[in-house]
Amino acid sequence: MILKNIEVTNFRNYENLKLTLNKNTNIIYGDNGGGKTNILESIFVLALTKSHRALSQSDLITSGKENTLIKGTILNEIPYNLELTLTKTKKQVKIDNNPVSKIGDYISMMNIIIFYSNDLELIRGLPSNRRKYLNLQLSQISKNYYNTLNDYNKLLKIRNDYLKKISNNEPIDEGYFEILTDYLIERSIFIYQMREKYIERLNKICPDIYKDITGNDNFKIKYLPSITFENMEKDTIRSEMKKVLNENKEKEIKLKSTLFGPHRDDFEFHLEDNNLKNYGSQGQQRVAVLSLKLSEIQIFKDYKKNNPIILLDDVFSELDHVKKNNLLKYIDNDMQVIITTTDLDNIDENIKKKAKLINIKHGKIVEEVK
Ligand SMILES: Nc1ncnc2c1ncn2[C@@H]1O[C@H](COP(=O)(O)OP(=O)(O)OP(=O)(O)O)[C@@H](O)[C@H]1O
Ligand SMILES: [Mg+2]
Repeated sequence: MILKNIEVTNFRNYENLKLTLNKNTNIIYGDNGGGKTNILESIFVLALTKSHRALSQSDLITSGKENTLIKGTILNEIPYNLELTLTKTKKQVKIDNNPVSKIGDYISMMNIIIFYSNDLELIRGLPSNRRKYLNLQLSQISKNYYNTLNDYNKLLKIRNDYLKKISNNEPIDEGYFEILTDYLIERSIFIYQMREKYIERLNKICPDIYKDITGNDNFKIKYLPSITFENMEKDTIRSEMKKVLNENKEKEIKLKSTLFGPHRDDFEFHLEDNNLKNYGSQGQQRVAVLSLKLSEIQIFKDYKKNNPIILLDDVFSELDHVKKNNLLKYIDNDMQVIITTTDLDNIDENIKKKAKLINIKHGKIVEEVK
């Protein structure tokens, strides 16, 4: 899959930017603060409708403007156009000029993997970071996953509102509360099974890459669903979840919130059975995330029969030679890669030779080569 061109209007420090990209390597370079990461971010947002770094949608819109528009043409056997408009609170997406109402149908159209300096937060940060990551990956693979998760979140909100009402002694329809809980459980089953299958698949690839880089063959990713199931069969999940929610009903009413379910899941990175979050060195954590993301290239190839687009935000200045070479080894020659750097000297001559070079200054392209 290739992003042929992108046009952004009122995105961060770009009033308007049109960029045509090479089908292999593209290097965006320029001084700090010029807008290199903003370009990668606009590509990320075009694909996934949300940013990997902004906390709110309004951060993405150029100061003083009301909305931002991003358009791109994807080549994937046949070409198609993606378009996204964001206001401070709303989003709208189109495929080939036709509005798409289910965001999941849109997100699965463009597959990307980003490597960036804050990647370590995936290990060090909160469980919500890891859930967001897992959700974005699964949404790129399966439209059903995103659409089910979306349903789940809506049901969760309604259930929590009911718990608040019960807690405040307001009258509620008990029967409806039960139905709501059953609906929530059905969505949970799908989400749990998808997450488990995905992490299982990662564990078939990721430890080998970790070993290849470090020599250590005791790396694995561990899924921690918020309820421990003896097995991940549909019926087991259903009955366990019913049991746990029943047993904890009083507690949930007291705390006015649903305490169990996919919204409380987590996963961990383990080296020799120790959690890398508390135990790993910075280098081990970095290789762990690198291995995870490199495994995802293979996952996209397997599930989507497609090469994802790779975004590398300033990673060459941070990685040592060994990790740099390993990173490049797993990125095939026929993949589209978009790299940012402040200093072209950080990038090997043989990569530069074949690449399109784009020089950015103060939100403008000042030079394009090839
Ligand atoms: N909503 C916004 N409206 C206008 N300008 C913005 C907005 N958000 C960020 N900027 C500007 O974008 C610039 C930062 O761009 P970006 O992060 O892409 O820089 P960069 O080239 O990647 O820099 P570095 O090399 O330091 O990583 C800053 O000058 C910032 O003021
Ligand atoms: Mg940057």
